[in-house]
Amino acid sequence: SAYELDGHPDFMHKEIREQPEAVRRALRGRLDERFNTAHLGGLRMEPRRLREFSRVKFLGCGSAYYAGQLGANLVEELARIPADAEPASEFRYRNPVVDPHALYVAISQSGETADTLAAVQELRRKGGEVIGVVNAVGSAIARECEQGIFLHAGPEVSVASTKAVTSMNVSFALLATLLGRVRDLSTADGKRLVSGLRALPDRIAELVAMDERIAAVANRFAEASHMFFIGRVRGWPVAREGAQKLKEISYIHAEAYQAAELKHGPLALIDRGMPSVVVVPDDELLAKNIGTMEQIKARGGPIIAITGARLPDGLADAVLPVPSVEPELDPILLGIPLQQFAYHLAKVLGRDIDKPRNLAKSVTVE
Ligand code: AGP
Repeated sequence: SAYELDGHPDFMHKEIREQPEAVRRALRGRLDERFNTAHLGGLRMEPRRLREFSRVKFLGCGSAYYAGQLGANLVEELARIPADAEPASEFRYRNPVVDPHALYVAISQSGETADTLAAVQELRRKGGEVIGVVNAVGSAIARECEQGIFLHAGPEVSVASTKAVTSMNVSFALLATLLGRVRDLSTADGKRLVSGLRALPDRIAELVAMDERIAAVANRFAEASHMFFIGRVRGWPVAREGAQKLKEISYIHAEAYQAAELKHGPLALIDRGMPSVVVVPDDELLAKNIGTMEQIKARGGPIIAITGARLPDGLADAVLPVPSVEPELDPILLGIPLQQFAYHLAKVLGRDIDKPRNLAKSVTVE
């Protein structure tokens, strides 16, 4: 059952391996091959209503916020609607302008995070249209939002979120496809995305099976006390979530940085003792990412590349290869080896994987 280890050493181990099934459930009944779009039964909005939104804002805390950033990228890319993400914990304390033409998306695995719930309540008070992207059915946030997308990831026990984050990302790809197809996303692109989404569970199963290779790489870097996580555009939210995962369970200090920002300051920190985990999607920015890695290498910084692309020989000290589905969807896959990387570093350092110090699974207080 979901609350038993079933032979796994800990719940994070188990939940990483449940991802192909979790994603299959997130997709079930939601891919429309006839009209090459997504079908989201929890959103009761006519195409006319879906076309009205002039902005989309994602709100969540911690990993849910980083997932929201990935979601905002997808919505801008596929639907060409301006989109961004903000920590719900900030939103609730400032006095945000509530835009009547915006779609607000509240994201929460537990559905009980106090900051996210407060943001939803504030939005509703001020007339904002808010949908929930939630795992726990019947939770406070699910009840407060009248419409939404359930993740169906199954119960998540480990404090460090894995399968729920991946399912959030998948649900945003569905939402972005739906919003795109009532605007100017073509039938051909819709078809391409629908088949890319359909292929995700199998690609994720391949990734999860690479566990030993990732463990070997993690073990080589167990001495590090700081790491950079670098990404640009599609790779940026992935880098942020990767850094978050490492901090939470290994207690290694990690900082995420946008690739092009490195030269504006943090490059000063690069030396032999500062490894960089670089997220390299196989997309039109590959040459730029190679340039960034060259800058790091020139300063003696070790590089761990997470990529679906072929890199020049000798550039990275370690490569974690990632299969590809479609360029827009690849960030969903790129995040998974970073979960495993954090897991194995935490393991070799003897950390309590499922119950990291000072953290709770869901933060129901201010
Ligand atoms: C994830 O690994 C973290 N433990 C944490 O950032 C979490 O994502 C955050 O607290 C939000 O939780 P929620 O999704 O249940 O709202």
